[in-house]
Amino acid sequence: MKQKGLKMPIIFNAAFRQFHLLNNKISYIMHIMENGQLEHLYFGKCVCPEADFSYLAERGHRDMQACPLPDQPYFSPEHIRQEYPCFGYGDMRMPAFEIERENGSRVVDFKYVGHRIYHGKKPLDPLPGVYCEPGDDVETLEITLTDEQIHTDIILYYTIFESAAALIRHAEFSCHGEERISVETAMSFGLDLPDMDYEMIDLAGSWSRERHIRRHSLDYGIQSVYSLRGSCSSHQFNPFIALARRDTGENSGEVIGMSLLYSGDFLAQAEVDNFGVTRVTMGIHPQEFSWTLYSGEKFVTPEAVIVYSDKGIGEMSSTYHWLYRNRLARGMWRDRERPILINNWEATYFSFNEESLLKIARKAADIGIELFVLDDGWFGHRNDSKSSLGDWYVNKEKLQGGLKGFAEKINSLGMGFGIWIEPEMVSEDSDLYRKHPDWVLGDKRRILSKARNQYVLDFSRPEVVDEVYRQLADTFRGLPITYIKWDHNRSMSEVFSAGGNREYQGTVRHRFILGMYSLYAKMTAAFPDILFESCASGGARFDPGMLYYAPQAWCSDNTDAIERIRIQYGTSLVYPLSSIGSHVSAVPNEQIKRITPLRTRAAVAYFGTFGYEQDLTKASEEELAEMKLQISFMKKYRNLIQKGTFCRLISPFEKDGNIAAWEVISEDGKEVLAAYFRILQKPEAPYTRLRLAGLEEKETYLCQEVNNCCEADAEAEKIYRSGSELMNIGLIMSDESSGCKGVAAQVQGDFLARMFLLKKQSPDAE
Ligand code: GLA
Repeated sequence: MKQKGLKMPIIFNAAFRQFHLLNNKISYIMHIMENGQLEHLYFGKCVCPEADFSYLAERGHRDMQACPLPDQPYFSPEHIRQEYPCFGYGDMRMPAFEIERENGSRVVDFKYVGHRIYHGKKPLDPLPGVYCEPGDDVETLEITLTDEQIHTDIILYYTIFESAAALIRHAEFSCHGEERISVETAMSFGLDLPDMDYEMIDLAGSWSRERHIRRHSLDYGIQSVYSLRGSCSSHQFNPFIALARRDTGENSGEVIGMSLLYSGDFLAQAEVDNFGVTRVTMGIHPQEFSWTLYSGEKFVTPEAVIVYSDKGIGEMSSTYHWLYRNRLARGMWRDRERPILINNWEATYFSFNEESLLKIARKAADIGIELFVLDDGWFGHRNDSKSSLGDWYVNKEKLQGGLKGFAEKINSLGMGFGIWIEPEMVSEDSDLYRKHPDWVLGDKRRILSKARNQYVLDFSRPEVVDEVYRQLADTFRGLPITYIKWDHNRSMSEVFSAGGNREYQGTVRHRFILGMYSLYAKMTAAFPDILFESCASGGARFDPGMLYYAPQAWCSDNTDAIERIRIQYGTSLVYPLSSIGSHVSAVPNEQIKRITPLRTRAAVAYFGTFGYEQDLTKASEEELAEMKLQISFMKKYRNLIQKGTFCRLISPFEKDGNIAAWEVISEDGKEVLAAYFRILQKPEAPYTRLRLAGLEEKETYLCQEVNNCCEADAEAEKIYRSGSELMNIGLIMSDESSGCKGVAAQVQGDFLARMFLLKKQSPDAE
């Protein structure tokens, strides 16, 4: 990723009052208009730094409805590509921010008063943010806009890395006057693009069907994705959209990705006006949001990462993967290979005791598993979902030796010990609820919904967060815990905080997220050696905000291999494989009862963090032997998988969705691991090829099939092909049904997975 670039990533041209943020991949240009406001001029592939770009400010006579400034008929805010648009000032499109004064007026006028350019990037405390490390060439621009009547500043932040085609933005509101102001909308950025010739790509779904790729042409009006679930970014939509040109594919064409570092209510929308201008805004959802600022107070929006690629969606993903893996995820586990784990949830649910768990653990240790994760049900008197959330002390009826005794037994088998928590929730049947019934979020004069038999704790209140932290820290301190799965299993509804007045209520949902982040910050500081995996009923919080605290996330409760192909394929649009929690479960699958081969389940789960989630005491000797080979395979290749460059090759969201393929190229480019999945075998099927990507055209590669998707070292036919052949002609994947004779039985049938290992190596090297 590191490349030699231009030495001046941010230029201020004082003569033309223009800002140009650039590296050798992108340019972002804006200027200060004659009225002191900012106008966006260009975002895209890098252009000549010296030029004057004033000509991009198109002005002209506008229609009868325009509201130009007095005596300036050609200055109509509605027809200007605004940098951070407000509402109520001649621009009738959706704004990036809205401020209400004490008298109810929402008319504002923020003008440029100054800027700062500096090396590096400040932390965004109390929110997650991309960071830089010593040696990174990173510059930040802060532009201050002021509305003198209300004595309020907005600071717009822009950070650019020399080596990444990404711009990191957020905004900060601060009030200095006697008059209090109320921030009613505070998006992280606005981006006005000059045309609408784009398709919007987003990640949509539901529980058990997260992050499926959708792509549709932009149309006039508003198209958006959002979460209004309060405490999570949701199963339904991910805080990400991309705008791609119509002909943009994986390896060619222009695309702009926009991703929000936030785990709660968000809105990402593209509005196309009657001139075909596309305005994108992204940030905290304005619904239910209202934040009053008194003199000396400020409000900071979450950060957004905007990525540009002119080499297709694949390169956009690589930029996100690099940034999120190396400059968003933190801590000791950021760069470490992730342990292969066994999780007891689908094996036992709530009914277990020490011996039944140890039986599974012994089998796991025998086949080389490195970490035993004790899921829900170990605390209070929790034997089903109806009790004990909030009481984070061990249930000694189930674990007689306590957590310490049990963890030591796991350690003596040669495995690490991990544990499940759901700290933001409380059960009605819990000591915590009995002691603090007003700590629940909700208007108690109304009916409170009880999703999954539980309530959401009022994490907007620091004393609630402190108590949960105290309990968790007391219980875990001194224990040999190396992993925590942090769950969150219900959305917010009937939101009301007993801890605040009327003004406070509009802040509760965001304060909740800040409270949750603060608990993560405390826990990761107190337990720096623990690997955190976030989870929210499967994948409802798979967002970059969480990755700042937990470098991996449970991708979906759906562990069926075929469903997971689509879920993981979609997830990979933004998120690196090192963040994708993926397990091999038993068949028939718990969620959709499908029966798939063990090799296919492993072949999908390898492309993530990898583990097992099933009762190994019920597995046959043959299955255990196969799992043992899978585990050694993963140990050998996880470095490549978790740190290499991921390329999507065939999309399960295109054509009839029957085939999917992807590959990972090792960091040094010498090895490639490719996987090909065919969901159903079809009669008289078309001839099929698997064309690889990202290879060196003139290099020769030794290409071998991975026997049974787990025996990398087994004798397999050796094929030598040039990179250009592999990328342009591809490997033949046709099966017997298309008339190809002599196809091995193991590549026949439904739910097929095949894997190939490529090594840069010529036949003479043998
Ligand atoms: C959620 C998670 C599961 C499991 C259960 C436990 O549904 O997604 O993996 O941990 O909670 O209650």
